[in-house]
Amino acid sequence: MARPTRSDLARQIRGHLELLQAGGLSHVRLKKKSGAAARKAPAPPAPPLPATKAPSPAVKAPALVARGVMAPSVALEELKRFGGERAGLLAPLAEAVRVCEACRLCATRKQTVFGTGNPDSRLMIIGEAPGADEDQQGRPFVGRAGALLTDIIEKGMKLRREDVYICNVLKCRPPDNRNPEPDEIAQCRPYLERQIEIINPSVLLAVGRFPAQWLCNSQEPIGQLRGRRFEYKGRHVVCTYHPAYLLRNYTLDTRKKVHADVMLALELLGSEPVVRR
Ligand code: URA
Repeated sequence: MARPTRSDLARQIRGHLELLQAGGLSHVRLKKKSGAAARKAPAPPAPPLPATKAPSPAVKAPALVARGVMAPSVALEELKRFGGERAGLLAPLAEAVRVCEACRLCATRKQTVFGTGNPDSRLMIIGEAPGADEDQQGRPFVGRAGALLTDIIEKGMKLRREDVYICNVLKCRPPDNRNPEPDEIAQCRPYLERQIEIINPSVLLAVGRFPAQWLCNSQEPIGQLRGRRFEYKGRHVVCTYHPAYLLRNYTLDTRKKVHADVMLALELLGSEPVVRR
C-alpha cells in the first residue's frame, strides 16, 4: 500500500473534523478553504456512521503511533455494534477524539479512551482519566478500580455493566497517573459536554473529585459533594468516591457511603428500564 503523505494525513484529519462539525460539535473551527481548494473539495458527507479508514498500520510513523492516531478506535467498533441514532452521532466524535492533539497528553498516550457501554443508557458514569490499563486497552475502567466499579454496578446496583455508559473527564492518560491539569480538563471539556448531550442520560454518576467538580461546577472536596443531588443541564447528578480511593480505604464507613450514593442514583433513575428501548 502506498505511503500516505503529510497532506494525505492532513486531509484525513480535516475530514474527521468536518464530520465532527456535521455531528453538531460547535467548538471546532476550521479555516475556510482557499478558492481553488474549495472548488475542488467534494461536498462533506454526513453519514451517521462514517466509513473513515484509519491510516495503514504498515506505515512507519512513530510520532503518530505515539499519539495513538494509528490505533484503531475501540470505541468506534463498539458503537458500530450497538448501532442506532445515538451511536451514529457519537461515532464522529469518537473519531475526532482518536486523532485529538489539543493538549500535551497526546504525546504520551498509547491511544485515546472515548467511552464504553450502551449509548441509549439512562445512566452515565463518569470517571477521572484513563490509567495504564485503560491506555493499553482503549476502554475506561478495565483495571483494578474498574473491577470494583463493575462490582458496584452489578452487585450493588443490580444492573448490567454493558447497559450503562461509562467514560472519563479526560480521554487520554496523564503520565504516571498524575492528576489532570486544569488546561487538560478545559481542552477535553467539549468532548464530554457533547457525549452528555448526545446520550442525554437521566442520571450522571460522578466517581471521584474531578468529575464531581466538573459536573457540579464546584471546587468543594468530594467528601462534601457526595451524598447530595445536583443538576447538570436539567439532569440529575450524584457524586461518590472514586473506586481507587475505595480500594485504598476499604472501610465499613466508605463502603456504606458509596452504597448510599449509588442507591440515590438508582432512586433518581426511577422504575423505567436503564436502557431506552
Ligand atoms: N480511573 C478512572 O477515573 N477512569 C478510568 O477509566 C480508570 C481508572
